[in-house]
Amino acid sequence: MTTLFDPLVAGELKLANRIAMAPLTRNRAPGAVPPPMAATYYAQRASAGLLITEATAISAQGQGYANVPGLYAPEQVAGWRRVTETVHAAGGTIVTQLWHVGRVSHTALQLGGAAPVAPSAIAAKTKTYLIDADGRGRFVPTSEPRALAIEEIPGIVADYRRAARAAMEAGFDGVEVHAANGYLIDQFLRASSNRRTDAYGGSIANRARLLLEVMAAVTEEIGAGRVGVRISPVTPANDVSDPAPQALFTYVVEQLARWPLAYVHIIEGATGGPRDYQQGDTPFDYGALRAAYTQAGGRAAWMVNNGYDRELAMAAVAEGRADIVAFGKAFIANPDLVRRLRENAPLNAWDSNTFYGGDARGYLDYPTLEPA
Ligand code: FNR
Repeated sequence: MTTLFDPLVAGELKLANRIAMAPLTRNRAPGAVPPPMAATYYAQRASAGLLITEATAISAQGQGYANVPGLYAPEQVAGWRRVTETVHAAGGTIVTQLWHVGRVSHTALQLGGAAPVAPSAIAAKTKTYLIDADGRGRFVPTSEPRALAIEEIPGIVADYRRAARAAMEAGFDGVEVHAANGYLIDQFLRASSNRRTDAYGGSIANRARLLLEVMAAVTEEIGAGRVGVRISPVTPANDVSDPAPQALFTYVVEQLARWPLAYVHIIEGATGGPRDYQQGDTPFDYGALRAAYTQAGGRAAWMVNNGYDRELAMAAVAEGRADIVAFGKAFIANPDLVRRLRENAPLNAWDSNTFYGGDARGYLDYPTLEPA
């Protein structure tokens, strides 16, 4: 029987076990450059089969929160190289999550105070995070976005491609395309945020076009075996919804089956909330989603996330419902999560006050178990 602790080859990625660290924004990258302490933070967690970095902006326009890192400037690539070298020295495997926030941004974070961009000029009823001149963080409503002109879309796809190339230069083992949680790609996917009448709006195929163009570019640039993708079929995060999520995401995974990807990463339910969150008339059927992917020829590892504990994760892998389980908050608080899961040791509790922003406290100082 397969367990969480068995190794796995996922595309070109060699995982020591089936436990992934979920992408976790920590807002500790002033000037959008990962600080030296980020190398320590990720290396502390290098026993994960796969580390997925915090979401990382592909462009200045893709930035939506204070002090999140990017991959569009040489000093950012250098900062990430410090991280990947430290993680590799510790025996880990690490990919970076490529991010464009779309409308989930603020004019204060955009070049020249510009409006954030979106599929349609519909503001998200959600907040973003700014840090004031005195260093104090605060959540503020997002700014009114403007709709992208169709002529601008190739430039955005090119930004994803460039960022994937930059990730390779920074020494990452691969990238995860962030198509979840109501950010730009998900804003195109879901009907509530996409009212376009051109080739990128309307039908499911049109709404999925941006994602598939990004996947084509990124896989061509670095090889499909180094690429994963994250989707969240029903999460209401950042004010997105769709009347027919099962049909939409069935189409998405059938199309993703075109590429021999490293993995497909599914957030089940509402991100950080109920796993049984329902959108549309019927509960979302994740088993059917996977079956559709496999039927279409998809062979990538299937990664699941959201509210998993030891028992649920062990069962998911043992029963073949998932190949990899990603843990978020538990990894913030437990650098040695893999060992704790293996030994069924108690977990440290997380402190949500230090999730976003701040210093090494709540970042580097969670204790590990005593050496065995
Ligand atoms: C997140 N999450 C998240 N998701 C994502 O795709 N990119 C990101 O950068 C972040 N950032 C982030 C920061 C913090 C502090 C939290 C708590 C969450 C969502 C995260 O990856 C995961 O989906 C959820 O935390 C649910 O998994 P757990 O925590 O129940 O294992």
